[in-house]
Amino acid sequence: MSSQGSGPVPSSTPSSATPIIKPTDLRGILRYVPRFQGQIFVLALDGSVVADENFGNLLVDIAVLRSLGIKVVLVHGIGHQLQELSETRKIPISNLDGTGITDAATLDLAIRASARVSHLILEGLTQNALKCAITNAVRALPVGILRGVEQLFTGKVDRIDKDFLSHLIERDIVPIIQPIGYAPEGQSLRINSDLLAAEVGEALGASKVIYLGALAGLEINGEVQREIPVDRLRALLKDNPGHIAPAALSKAQHAVRALETGVSRVHLVDGRTFDGLINEIFSNEGVGTLIYANDYQQIRKARRADVRHIYNLTRAAVRREELLHRTQTMIEKHIDQFYVFEIDENIIACVTLTFYADKPQLAEIGSVYVMPFYQNRGIGRKLIEFACLRAKERGATQALALSTQSYSFFTSVMNFEEATTAVLPEARLKSYAENGRNPKVLIKAL
Ligand SMILES: CC(C)(COP(=O)(O)OP(=O)(O)OC[C@H]1O[C@@H](n2cnc3c(N)ncnc32)[C@H](O)[C@@H]1OP(=O)(O)O)[C@@H](O)C(=O)NCCC(=O)NCCS
Repeated sequence: MSSQGSGPVPSSTPSSATPIIKPTDLRGILRYVPRFQGQIFVLALDGSVVADENFGNLLVDIAVLRSLGIKVVLVHGIGHQLQELSETRKIPISNLDGTGITDAATLDLAIRASARVSHLILEGLTQNALKCAITNAVRALPVGILRGVEQLFTGKVDRIDKDFLSHLIERDIVPIIQPIGYAPEGQSLRINSDLLAAEVGEALGASKVIYLGALAGLEINGEVQREIPVDRLRALLKDNPGHIAPAALSKAQHAVRALETGVSRVHLVDGRTFDGLINEIFSNEGVGTLIYANDYQQIRKARRADVRHIYNLTRAAVRREELLHRTQTMIEKHIDQFYVFEIDENIIACVTLTFYADKPQLAEIGSVYVMPFYQNRGIGRKLIEFACLRAKERGATQALALSTQSYSFFTSVMNFEEATTAVLPEARLKSYAENGRNPKVLIKAL
């Protein structure tokens, strides 16, 4: 899939050095489609990206995302255009990025710059046959006085009109959100676009916020990171912010904020790179930086106090012969093997991880159970991924699962393969033969 195409500005030609998605990669892309279909991605375009010659290609990439059923919201910045306007009109500005004081002259130029950028986006989306709308969905309030200094027309987000934006999205209209918010009495206020994208992501329950800027990614100690967990980035921002490239600091801060409020992935991508957006989303390695939330924070090791809860949780599945019968005493005896998944301190799922002395490279994943109300929300998958990670950390190279009724979950969803009883450790082979349930033996390389 190539995103060559004409945009409102001349398109760049891919050089031999730039990664290009070939039609043969289509299968790779289609793998992601069921996962992303219907999800909301907030794309935050810096003003410099809209001014870049690759912008036309980027719009084609956005059209590709829409055609795959991904819902897109565009938030744009204006720094580049504001700077240009200030220089050509010889009007000094009080602040460029919406984080400092915005005086009346700067606000006036910001509104003009914003109109120009939105217009370019409107033209480009029209060229790609996408319906779009500039909105007044961002209600703002003045930041007010900070450390004794009045910030004038700098605003903060008061409320995002979620219903309005959802209404547009549901009708296949791409909302375009400017870095200008509106106070209740209609006054325009300048808002930083990195902050705005994080706020929009939170309000809409977006699965991704993708910052498209003029940076190769998040640079830490001079090196662009391919991926970083939010906990590490948060700690770095707190203890060693100087290690982060200054140009990426604002995006790093707002990425953490977005991830803390429910967005599960934030990407920093160079919006000037041909196919950068598509490659970042649809390839395992990515080309920018992926910042991700800790997916496993709701999973913890079981404690003695959990025995009764685990017993009650799994009783129905035992009755249906989905799980092997275990008494409370048996659960207590093997409590070290159990991990539980909690929502609001209630255990709603569990899994066990067992090691065998005679086959230390093998780890058995068992007793996977998700309360019916919570099934089909990705919890079972997360538990098994977590158990596989733990097993690998402890030196196992293969995961084993024995299943009577849910084996297709292991094979089709978790990529386990059917094996014979020959792979079982001796002790396990004995209990396998004794209990008469005759489960399928499934195996996965870690
Ligand atoms: C099997 C089980 C653990 C899956 O957990 P879950 O949280 O519902 O599953 P997830 O939301 O992570 O994954 C959903 C996917 O798994 C598939 N799936 C769920 N249960 C399945 C099953 N029994 N067989 C095959 N596929 C199944 C869904 O169709 C869905 O596929 P999709 O992503 O392609 O749409 C859960 O349904 C369960 O607890 N079942 C009863 C107990 C049981 O059988 N445990 C296994 C003992 S070894």
